[in-house]
Amino acid sequence: ESATKGGFSSFMEKEIHDQPDAVRQTLLGRSDLNGNLTLDELRIDPEELKKVNKIIVLACGTAAYAGTVAKYAIENWCRIPTEVELAHEFRYRDPILDDNTLVVSISQSGETMDTLMAVRYAREQGAKTISICNTNGSTIPRESDAVLYTHAGPEIAVASTKAFLAQITAAYLLGLYLAQLRGNIFSGQIKDVLADLGKIPAKIQTILDGAGPLRELARSMANEQSILFLGRHVGYPVALEGALKLKEIAYIHAEGFAAGELKHGPIALIDEGKPVFVVVPSPRGRDSLHAKVVSNIQEVRARGARTLVIAEEGDEAVKAYAEHVFYVPETPTLLMPLLTTVPLQIFAAELAAAKGYDVDQPRNLAKSVTVE
Ligand code: G6P
Repeated sequence: ESATKGGFSSFMEKEIHDQPDAVRQTLLGRSDLNGNLTLDELRIDPEELKKVNKIIVLACGTAAYAGTVAKYAIENWCRIPTEVELAHEFRYRDPILDDNTLVVSISQSGETMDTLMAVRYAREQGAKTISICNTNGSTIPRESDAVLYTHAGPEIAVASTKAFLAQITAAYLLGLYLAQLRGNIFSGQIKDVLADLGKIPAKIQTILDGAGPLRELARSMANEQSILFLGRHVGYPVALEGALKLKEIAYIHAEGFAAGELKHGPIALIDEGKPVFVVVPSPRGRDSLHAKVVSNIQEVRARGARTLVIAEEGDEAVKAYAEHVFYVPETPTLLMPLLTTVPLQIFAAELAAAKGYDVDQPRNLAKSVTVE
């Protein structure tokens, strides 16, 4: 067993460190040097894909947060209305779908029963189905019209890490491919995004190499009862994922919130010493989102919170209000989840290990849930 852990203390630690490769392998061979996406494996008639007027992403758990990231990117690049839904809620609400609907399921295992049943239902209603999946030949891809495999390699730890980054990567490729087919964005733009994606593995490595202070903080927080996570735009699903990791392996109450929602309720939870992670958008981004999230940091700090900030390298504005800042390298806003998630995974794994828990086999959870 120690051999397969590659010298790491747990599979989860190994898989966190596998992430540069997971992203690299998922990108590999799927575009040419001119920035053309070549997803020949998709085996759905491109003419059919051009007719798609609605996308529904279906998944559970971590994969559903990858789906939320996908929504922001796909709508931005393709201008196709995109919904994300928890697979187990989907078919019980009489969803509206037809043969111009594309259902994208996301599943690491390809065996999650809730997701499988939702995909079956969507097919019965005539929708086209694409599976983003990490497990070759598993049931969900077999029952879908097409599959785009993530190449993260086998994920052993119950709490998903490298599969999440690979799912996001595959969803970006799918979004770019649809945009290319439909002529929504210029090939030059696609080429730029692909070049930025190509730089992600080295940037993840930088985060992994510089994680010492974050690990130290995590160990010092082993006795916390509750930790909150705030994020906005693509930082919102990252906040949800950061909270989920802590719940899963450290058994700490953790909640992720959309930062804009803070004033509508969650701010009442803030009291003296409450730890709050804030995932800050790039100061180079649009719509003054950066300033709004920085003021959220001020608001929680003014009420006594400990502010633990994930921000982009060079963002000096956050320093004044942060007890700790963890910087990630610069990257375009839509790609930021591939970087900002990593410190939150490391934090959860380190804290759970400090509590003496088995981070690979958390209580009450299964890697693949094959019952509804
Ligand atoms: C289980 C696992 C989660 C995972 C979810 C979806 O609940 O414990 O880590 O995110 O299933 O799994 P899937 O294989 O469909 O991605």
